[in-house]
Amino acid sequence: MTTKSRLLSLLEQSRGSFVSGQDAATQLHVSRAAVWKAVQALRAAGLPVEAMPGSGYRLGPDSDFLSPESLRTFLPADTPLQLLAETTSTNLVAKQWAMQDAAHGSLVVALCQTSGRGRLGRGFESPAGGIYMSVVLRPRGEMQATACITAAVAVAVCRAVESLCGIQLSIKWVNDLFFQGKKCCGILTEAASGLETGSLDYMVVGIGLNYTITQAAFSPAVQDIVTSLYPQGGAPVPRAQLCAEIHAQLLAQFETLATGTFLEEYRRRSLVLDRPVTVLAAAPYTATAVEIDDAARLVVQTPDGARHTLSSGEISVRMLPAE
Ligand code: BTN
Repeated sequence: MTTKSRLLSLLEQSRGSFVSGQDAATQLHVSRAAVWKAVQALRAAGLPVEAMPGSGYRLGPDSDFLSPESLRTFLPADTPLQLLAETTSTNLVAKQWAMQDAAHGSLVVALCQTSGRGRLGRGFESPAGGIYMSVVLRPRGEMQATACITAAVAVAVCRAVESLCGIQLSIKWVNDLFFQGKKCCGILTEAASGLETGSLDYMVVGIGLNYTITQAAFSPAVQDIVTSLYPQGGAPVPRAQLCAEIHAQLLAQFETLATGTFLEEYRRRSLVLDRPVTVLAAAPYTATAVEIDDAARLVVQTPDGARHTLSSGEISVRMLPAE
């Protein structure tokens, strides 16, 4: 690792507090002049390294520069990681990586995406200021339905946001997270089976969380229906920390998937239960969402009393105003 990277790690670890030039030099085993050179290189790369005579250097408490060093500060040391300034879709990159044997938990993060992918062939707007991440999962033994995994990941993201930002998110079946009545996060789970064995080889779970994106950065087509957690800035933690927390919560949920315990929280956070919805099937119809079953499918009841069980692969629901 270069002195510049090592200094960045040191400053990330003591974010908000000053590290004296001498302490940095001692810890990095370099001269003070080399520390100063590294500070200049970090600034040239756009990092807001503050200097205070007599105190040293620090990253401002509000700075949020997503770098491999900042992510590594918060991730377990052995996490395989790719951070991309820009990519088409982190899910595509993660799938290619998985095909080259990326380990369980491997993480792809991008600062923005040019062709972010959503469910049912839709796009996902991914301007700078969001957290765009995909995780490779390698199922062991019998695998749960993709809908269950998506639901467990939704709970994982809600928990991470609640623990670091103190914000309660709601879940619109199956994979949309809502904040103040608008979508702030989408989740896309993609699976690949081995051709010969027919068993699941790997899964890629992609999460797009609108964190500090300003409202104007979204296209007019979605401005009324999407939002960020902090569109005006003032986020309490850097993206790297939240990204690592989501990664940790997601892997923890994955370990306990078979127990189904996440479903209780998923139902509690549900926006659609007991609400009238339009089911966007080939022939759309209105119904009331009455249950989320143990396979994370949505059960709706039509006015004639008939019940239909919806699985996420084919169908979306739109909420109607409660009567
Ligand atoms: C949806 O809302 O339908 C799902 C959106 C999923 C977006 C995330 S962003 C990171 C990952 N890469 C993608 O291309 N999609 C997912």
